[in-house]
Amino acid sequence: FTAGPLTGRHVLVTSGPTHEPIDPVRYIANRSSGAQGTALAAALRDLGARVTFVTGPASVPPPSGVTVVPVETAREMLSAVEAALPADAAIFAAAVADWRVANAGSSKMKKGGGGLQLDFAENPDILATVSAMGAGRPALVVGFAAETDDVLAHATAKRLRKGCDWIVANDVSPATGIMGGRENAVTLITAEGAEDWPRMSKQAVAEKLAARIATVIA
Ligand code: C5P
Repeated sequence: FTAGPLTGRHVLVTSGPTHEPIDPVRYIANRSSGAQGTALAAALRDLGARVTFVTGPASVPPPSGVTVVPVETAREMLSAVEAALPADAAIFAAAVADWRVANAGSSKMKKGGGGLQLDFAENPDILATVSAMGAGRPALVVGFAAETDDVLAHATAKRLRKGCDWIVANDVSPATGIMGGRENAVTLITAEGAEDWPRMSKQAVAEKLAARIATVIA
């Protein structure tokens, strides 16, 4: 336990990808490693916060000294987030699958019948759901926006559409090497405007963001 500016504060962090089952042995996922969310949870812990870390199946281990709530699907993540509230701040760093397979099989699907048709249903938007809470809404709600084009415009629109306070936008075009990499280059979008941060390690982004969060909820 570390004493710091966030001692006595509860912060919720979502992280990692979600896995959406196709059948009991197959799933749809994405390339999120969970590295940025994990670094952020550790940085908030180091400022003294009590951290609940709701994580999909990530490829990096969760930090020590936080409450880890492992989930697989987007719907499980939403339930875990709702169960973890109230919180002073909620940071949504997970790369939640936008769709789940609506006609997932309850037993392993067999080949031999030609192709495979999957129907998709939209998953709940966890960030938008929490942002829209009346009583019990965390004082600070932060989303991430991984974009491959028009990062600033898309992320600014996303802040308004989701109803969150801040958006941490980043360019995840393959050429940047950010998705799955050690570094990140982000733009912090608040009601006041957009701030470009220089490219730095995901750990440095986490520390800078945690310090910024502390200025609001400490
Ligand atoms: O809409 P998009 O997926 O680009 O939004 C990204 C932000 O929204 C991230 O903060 C992500 O964690 C959050 N999100 C969520 N639930 C979803 C989809 C995205 O919390 N179903």
